[in-house]
Amino acid sequence: MFFRQRSTANATLSYLFGCAGHQVAIAVDVVAGDEAWFAAEAERAGARITQVIDTHVHADHYSGGPELARRVGAAYGLHASNRGRMAFAFTPLHDGQRITAGNVIVDVIHTPGHTPDSICLLVRDLRRGDEPWFVITGDTLFVGAVGRPDLAGREREMAAQLHDTLHQKLLCLPAELEIYPGHQAGSACGAGLSGKPASTIGFEKRFNAMLAMDKQAFVDALTAEIPPAPTDMAAIIEANLRGVTPGATQA
Ligand SMILES: [Fe+2]
Repeated sequence: MFFRQRSTANATLSYLFGCAGHQVAIAVDVVAGDEAWFAAEAERAGARITQVIDTHVHADHYSGGPELARRVGAAYGLHASNRGRMAFAFTPLHDGQRITAGNVIVDVIHTPGHTPDSICLLVRDLRRGDEPWFVITGDTLFVGAVGRPDLAGREREMAAQLHDTLHQKLLCLPAELEIYPGHQAGSACGAGLSGKPASTIGFEKRFNAMLAMDKQAFVDALTAEIPPAPTDMAAIIEANLRGVTPGATQA
């Protein structure tokens, strides 16, 4: 397996990983303007990008996913709940769906809470073993924090859903599983994020204060001090729903 984590604009973390042996790669949460970097890194690894995935329709940055997918001839995947919402064709991803890239296996987990369409990607490398190795957590679980629940409205309901998601779908995963989030410190998608870009399920269970709360305390804490909405949020969401990428023309 090869694996790249890219720290990019708006404290976003993007990912490119895949199977070198079978020469296939998957790109996750690509930021507009970064398409050339992904294409070049895949080429450097000798791989073809077959899947481009966004963990949700982003509100804080223009997605480069649709443009990268068009450039390299890959499928562009989003959670299936976005059907009827997007202005262009995409590959609908479902909870429990398995994506194969050579020896790299990706299981889609629907993790609503930050947004209704949020997904996490559980990844295993059959060359290393049968067990999952890491999970890409998008804006559901960060290092030292969790995703903000208000961007889709109904913040208390969404916060309660995020608590269910975290406890029923992520914290039951093995303690040694690595987590790779969608942001680090400086992001508008959550509060209290660490500047460290990776962790493990076990470390977060022990030291992430949000994960020790019962549902009521979690909802109260998460909705008590909501950070300002991301700059240009409405325009960004609108562009991401249409699949246009203003940053694609940037250097
Ligand atoms: Fe987000």
